[in-house]
Amino acid sequence: TTDERPAGFEKNDHKPVGHGRMLRKEDPRFIRGKGRYVDDVQLPGMLHCAILRAPVAHARIVSIDTSAAEAHPKVKAVVTGATLTGLGLAWMPTLSGDVQAVLATDKVRFQGQEVAFVVAEDRYAARDALELIDVEYDVLDPVIDVRKALDPSAPVIRDDLDGKRNNHIFDWETGDEAATEAVFASADVVVSEDIVYPRVHPAPMETCGCVADYDRIDSRLTLWSTSQAPHAHRTLYAIVAGLPEHKIRVISPDIGGGFGGKVPIYPGYVCAIVGSIVTGKPVKWMEDRSENLTSTGFARDYIMRGEIAATRDGRILAVRTNVLADHGAFNGVAAPVKYPAGFFGVFTGSYDLQAAYCKMTAVYTNKAPGGVAYACSFRITEAVYLVERIVDCLAYELKMDPVELRIKNFIQPEQFPYRTKTGWLYDSGDYEPTMRKALEIAGYDDLRKEQAERRARGELMGIGVAFFTEAVGAGPRKDMDILGLGMADGCELRVHPTGKAVVRLSVQSQGQGHETTFAQIVAEEIGIPPADIDVVHGDTDQTPFGLGTYGSRSTPVSGAAAALVARKVRDKARIIASGMLEVSVADLEWVKGAFHVKGDPEKSVTIQDIAMRAHGAGDLPEGIEGGLEAQICYNPENLTYPHGAYICVVDIDPGTAQVKVRRFVAVDDCGTRINPMIIEGQVHRGLTDGVGMALMEMIAFDEDGNCLGGSLMDYLIPTALEVPDWETGFTVTPSPHHPIGAKGVGESATVGSPPAIVNAVVDALRPFGIRHADMPLTPSRVWDAMRGVPRPP
Ligand code: CDP
Repeated sequence: TTDERPAGFEKNDHKPVGHGRMLRKEDPRFIRGKGRYVDDVQLPGMLHCAILRAPVAHARIVSIDTSAAEAHPKVKAVVTGATLTGLGLAWMPTLSGDVQAVLATDKVRFQGQEVAFVVAEDRYAARDALELIDVEYDVLDPVIDVRKALDPSAPVIRDDLDGKRNNHIFDWETGDEAATEAVFASADVVVSEDIVYPRVHPAPMETCGCVADYDRIDSRLTLWSTSQAPHAHRTLYAIVAGLPEHKIRVISPDIGGGFGGKVPIYPGYVCAIVGSIVTGKPVKWMEDRSENLTSTGFARDYIMRGEIAATRDGRILAVRTNVLADHGAFNGVAAPVKYPAGFFGVFTGSYDLQAAYCKMTAVYTNKAPGGVAYACSFRITEAVYLVERIVDCLAYELKMDPVELRIKNFIQPEQFPYRTKTGWLYDSGDYEPTMRKALEIAGYDDLRKEQAERRARGELMGIGVAFFTEAVGAGPRKDMDILGLGMADGCELRVHPTGKAVVRLSVQSQGQGHETTFAQIVAEEIGIPPADIDVVHGDTDQTPFGLGTYGSRSTPVSGAAAALVARKVRDKARIIASGMLEVSVADLEWVKGAFHVKGDPEKSVTIQDIAMRAHGAGDLPEGIEGGLEAQICYNPENLTYPHGAYICVVDIDPGTAQVKVRRFVAVDDCGTRINPMIIEGQVHRGLTDGVGMALMEMIAFDEDGNCLGGSLMDYLIPTALEVPDWETGFTVTPSPHHPIGAKGVGESATVGSPPAIVNAVVDALRPFGIRHADMPLTPSRVWDAMRGVPRPP
């Protein structure tokens, strides 16, 4: 699957985009242990912050005594909610327009909530001093079961909000209820199923943290921070703290994975900033693993009723769903403002339907806030899981092959751009070839034969299929903003006199290889080899404004910006070349990094020649300034819509109910492929995520609200031992509106793999008459399913 282009990218005569052998420019530092992460930052006189967290899920704070902690010889400051109230900083806005306590003032609302912080000379002293803080709590009944959150007798969690008398956050709907009802009422077959997408956590390898350095003389704040969106964070800090934006510098150095979890601003960042302001010293705060798992943004937690209507011969007519969304104690969902349920509206999937409708209710519970877009474009993971599971339930009822059912209902290539019944405009797609390729790699017909033979011997083999369409690249600013900040991306390109270039991005890599792929995009457009193009990102003082990296938006938005800024530079280079070659601009053609005079290929100047001329002696064509650089702010016309076909083969041990993923075939279509090796790496990662969510991971709570997933002993993430050798393939359906036809891919596999795996497990359990089982399909859940034990609530 690798090589789409020959070698030779070191010279100008190359085609860097699609180059299968282009290694990652950032890897030499990573594989030598020379990455520079936030926790590597050491500043003179730096102090350390540690946070005291609530031991219970719901309690009124009666009193806090900090005197013993303050007396600790190494402690420099102890701060409580009362101190922050005095500074006007006790509450901060969340990404969805709610407010969240930086430090609890009145009540604690989830186990692990921030109650006070200590700044001390070292990390150990800070932690020790936490134990000297005495908090008296008046414990209240918690709301843990989301289904009971709206009971009239349920305790009101957010009594801090004016007039709030229940735990309701919002109702949201999309699609046409009446039209959908009409289709359901006259359909031959209607299938419904209760489907839960459990609460999971992005659990990046590097936890969250920052070093805040407030300079009292200049009133300047420098913040090294684990942020996926440094520019947006800077603006929010400016608004919340009342500091001028130009006096704040946010630096996101190397980031050890984000997966959506590093999009929100967490109280810890604000605590470190306050710590630096009150002590006048730099202050470092780094979470430990338990803090990360219990208090930073969770993902999913949707309880869905899925319904599908079809004809008896398998024509899908409509889908409908009702969702109860658990948002935790503060509504911290990360999504563009107009989309409180993210992009869940794409739950119509890859199928040509007559109608669709979704109704959703979101509620508060005494759990950590979040709803972050964990490796997905704002709730698309939940949407794809719902539709791909319910389509399989329909196949089960119709006794149809799940592949045949899907192919029969695909949106056809000539229908693109395709407007879904919930209003999304899919830009392009050609689904059947992608599905056929997956079937071919998997050897689908042989697998079904093998399955029949094994079933006859009492073995439990399952084959699961899933097909997804994603919507990535948020987003057109007419529709999408985060807290009022439009989702366009800046990009700047500067070519130096010797023909070496620097491209400055507003997006921020967390390991996706942007230093390589953005150099490839620019190289393709202006002919300078990727090795001569430096990619700068993650520093608000060094890069143009933009909304950051999440929801696979870097390639669709900033990738387009990089291509267009390079074209802008090339346009200027063409004018300079016309002067150098003494011909008109119209007489020049661009070939492999040089402008040639049409009909006289011997007469040419390379981009490097032009760069020197742009900065050198001698006249430039009239009206042209010296230098060779450009800047752009790209506002995407639409999202891009990658798609993919996934096939999973599992074996279940009938004695232990352990699921083993034997094979997994993933065929992805992300339009033009910039770096096939990096794409493959992204897909491998996402598939591994999928194994975790489908089989192992869940952030659960006991009835008192104690988090049961607070360590990696309890919250199981997959390792190489749990995953098979991934088998990947691709098709290419370019995006018609992206300048190089690329669509995002970073999250496709996280979105597409859970339904393929669950569909495979349910298929293996067919002899038991099982149509659905909820994730994570741990041995105990599979065992219960085999024995007909009702599913857990
Ligand atoms: O926003 P994020 O970087 O997480 O996701 P993405 O835009 O899907 O890109 C993930 C990585 O895959 C980046 O290094 C992209 O440049 C690369 N990619 C690619 O090589 N070709 C594509 N069509 C899409 C992404």
